[in-house]
Amino acid sequence: MRLIKCKNPDEVSKEAAKIIAGQMALKPDSTIGFATGSTPVGTYKILIDMYKNGELDFSKITAFNLDEYYPIEHKNDQSYYYFMRDNLFSHVNIDPENCHIPNGEAKDADAECAEYDKLIQEKGGIDLQILGIGQNGHIGFNEPDENLFCATHKTKLTDNTIEANSRFFATKEEVPTHALTMGIGEIMKARRIILLATGKNKQQAVKALLNDYLNTNVPATMLKLHSDVVLICDEDALS
Ligand code: GLP
Repeated sequence: MRLIKCKNPDEVSKEAAKIIAGQMALKPDSTIGFATGSTPVGTYKILIDMYKNGELDFSKITAFNLDEYYPIEHKNDQSYYYFMRDNLFSHVNIDPENCHIPNGEAKDADAECAEYDKLIQEKGGIDLQILGIGQNGHIGFNEPDENLFCATHKTKLTDNTIEANSRFFATKEEVPTHALTMGIGEIMKARRIILLATGKNKQQAVKALLNDYLNTNVPATMLKLHSDVVLICDEDALS
């Protein structure tokens, strides 16, 4: 795992945007795995600016998002469907047909998850996966547990995650209790991975990532088995 140490969140966003832009230049029809949460928002702003300046072209890009609350309506402004349109997709020339997010409105969650993995494989897999990290070390919505799932699946959110994500909702009770998420196996199949971590509340999770052990109670530690992961952290997350 390669570590890029940054001074602050702005630098983290710049480093991440540089890597994503490099991937797009190298392979204009890249398949990119996108993440939600507050951490990648600055990176998406830079990508939008680069697109507006004519430096980036999303027309051949395929997007697969990591996760989505379940159940949740697309029109809910806390859905990741809404988030991605608001923070990236509607500002660049990506083809909406090529934007994939696990469907929070699906009637049959298991069928939706199986279909999602099939689609990723049909598109040739993910070239570059962007990840944030939960305070408890989750990636996507793969929560700390005795066992971790490989495939995309429906999962129950932990109290810690519901608490952490309640800052975006009017009340804690409004946070969905479940989600659909790419599994650890699907994430590990990505050819390249970048993980962004900023802020003091990520210190514990980042420390576990940098220690030399695997622990399903810190799901992100599974990334140590991947040969091309870049960890981009600010001083607060590293201290
Ligand atoms: C959510 C998402 C994760 C994300 C995490 C951290 O739970 N499912 O993919 O990494 O939040 O979010 P933030 O960047 O807001 O700290």
